[in-house]
Amino acid sequence: MPLPSAFNLKPVLEMGESDYQCWRKDKLRRYIPDLENCLVPIQNPLQLRPAEIRQLREIICSNNFVVYQYPSHPDYDSNSYREICRQLGLSRSISNPGADADNVTKIQDRTVYDAGMNHRSRYIPYTNLALNWHTDGYYNNQDRMVRAFVLHCMEPAQAGGVNALMDHEIAYILLRDENPQWAKALCDPECLTIPENIVGQKVIRDQFTGPVFSTDPATGELYARYTERKHNAVWKDTPVLRKAASALAAILRTENRWTAEITLQRGQGLICNNVLHNRSAFEDNDSQERKRCLYRIRFSERVQFLG
Ligand SMILES: [Fe+2]
Repeated sequence: MPLPSAFNLKPVLEMGESDYQCWRKDKLRRYIPDLENCLVPIQNPLQLRPAEIRQLREIICSNNFVVYQYPSHPDYDSNSYREICRQLGLSRSISNPGADADNVTKIQDRTVYDAGMNHRSRYIPYTNLALNWHTDGYYNNQDRMVRAFVLHCMEPAQAGGVNALMDHEIAYILLRDENPQWAKALCDPECLTIPENIVGQKVIRDQFTGPVFSTDPATGELYARYTERKHNAVWKDTPVLRKAASALAAILRTENRWTAEITLQRGQGLICNNVLHNRSAFEDNDSQERKRCLYRIRFSERVQFLG
């Protein structure tokens, strides 16, 4: 496994064309398209072996995501995956309205079925419906940037619940390959506005306007914030931006070798530097105890390759 590219020393969005082309070639060469090669079996989440940590970091360095797999007969409590996060340098978690005191969110279908009426959550993640392509926290301002998140599977669905993943660096490359002007347009700091979130009379999140692709001021890495949703997302209305946004949506929708599809199984977890992702609709088991259940925790740090 190669070391991270020296081209990463300069932010991708600030590179001249020739450096960018070198970085692009290196990124595509390092990317691991086969999901089975992105799976790292671990013996003990409470104390990872040095080789396991190295492998997790190396795969993230190539793909911005990795999947760990617990031993087949795990004897660890439901919080043990947080120890994996800690050992990878992820400790500053970010709260959200559905999270518990430790900023862990239980992702389940919270629809309440009673008297023939279905009371769905107003937030799609807490239903069994499909989730469009997005990055986590696309509605957050720069003080609450989600740089990484972890999804740990306690129980898979009976059917569905597939996550598709696309490394945002790959998405940027594919878009710029199609038309450099489109990639540039999505770096416009005014390109995507998410209106404020009001519950009852209370504003629980302010409006935020920002780019899709930007340089993370804290790390210098390429950062993406994106949502495919049409409702509650306002794109700056210029001809080039309209084309750029629809080109990116088409890249994400089109089957290609860069998109990884994973149905997390019990004891598996996805660790990622907030790559683009979606979720297919799912069907739960009839048993309440065996409903699809994933734990999600978001971080203001990303997983770095330390060499
Ligand atoms: Fe998400």
